[in-house]
Amino acid sequence: MFAARRTASLFQKRAFSASAINASKVSVLGAAGGIGQPLSLLLKLNPRVSELALYDIRGGPGVAADLSHINTNSTVTGYNPDASGLRDCLEGSEIILIPAGVPRKPGMTRDDLFNTNASIVRDLAKAAAEAAPKAHVLVIANPVNSTVPIVAEVYKARNVYDPKRLFGVTTLDVVRASRFISQVQNTNPSGEAVPVSNHSSIAGQARDALVNRIQFGGDEVVKAKDGAGSATLSMAMAGARFAESLLRAAQGEKGVIEPTFVDSPLYKDQGIDFFASRVELGPNGVEKINSVGEINEYEQGLLDACLTDLKKNIQKGVDFVKANP
Ligand code: NAD
Ligand code: LMR
Repeated sequence: MFAARRTASLFQKRAFSASAINASKVSVLGAAGGIGQPLSLLLKLNPRVSELALYDIRGGPGVAADLSHINTNSTVTGYNPDASGLRDCLEGSEIILIPAGVPRKPGMTRDDLFNTNASIVRDLAKAAAEAAPKAHVLVIANPVNSTVPIVAEVYKARNVYDPKRLFGVTTLDVVRASRFISQVQNTNPSGEAVPVSNHSSIAGQARDALVNRIQFGGDEVVKAKDGAGSATLSMAMAGARFAESLLRAAQGEKGVIEPTFVDSPLYKDQGIDFFASRVELGPNGVEKINSVGEINEYEQGLLDACLTDLKKNIQKGVDFVKANP
């Protein structure tokens, strides 16, 4: 009896210290929104998350109260903008996800969101840089090509910028690509690797249609929602997958790779400081940035077009913070 109890208490101690090592506070800014709510739900279901902190300009505590009844071990706390709400939400966070900001309506480009979302992201980044400067920051708010550089500039101005800890969440693009490719090839979508190899059997019109669908996947959802916003549920899944990958890497797993938009050496010689490619994650965030690899002429054409726009998008974010610090 004694031995059994002793064994049980030793086991509990070991279980406690293992979970203490893995204790991870994750905060979501914009937690009551279309993405924020299902994203917070998925994080509540993730055993790697020990503490979930939910902030929004309205509705954070309500979402937190609801999620806190789910029978998983993590604690959930909601915060309002009053008093020190944002600071308290952020303090001690290992990961900060930012889905705060307005979504598109039909007829809008992502860049049309800049005027509203740039200042939202800038202000949240200021708070994060002060309260949790070492946290990994995962930017979801669009336009990501500009909002990520905004966060970088805010952190640089406060001398706390660590390029290894800032990520634009682009996971949804590959989640979609895996699904769409699997539909064309009749394969298992979760096993469908993206990028596709050059020897892929998809070619000609089928390839063009597929590329177009992936590029305009966001528009497909915006149109279907008919004024009620953009992708939220698939984005929540993609954001939760990225956070999970970072936590796996932080907790010692090797070889964790996700596509993400980061401060990248790949095209710096062309004046482009950020780029999305397959990035290996480690305990300190970015571990290794992979190049795009061997690409064919068709893909090179797409890449060249993308680089021209990307350079302008990045500069727009940088200029915004310089003009509106
Ligand atoms: P939403 O309007 O449903 O939710 C946004 C939430 O942000 C709201 O609850 C709002 O109260 C909150 N908010 C606004 N200002 C805030 C502030 N200063 N601090 C804290 N919270 C604030 O929008 P959504 O559908 O959840 O989309 C959010 C953003 O994510 C949009 O910019 C959208 O374009 C973007 N998005 C990105 C991707 C991607 O792949 N990265 C995918 C889908 C959507
Ligand atoms: C998406 O790709 O679904 C997001 O970037 C949202 C949008 O506006 O398309």
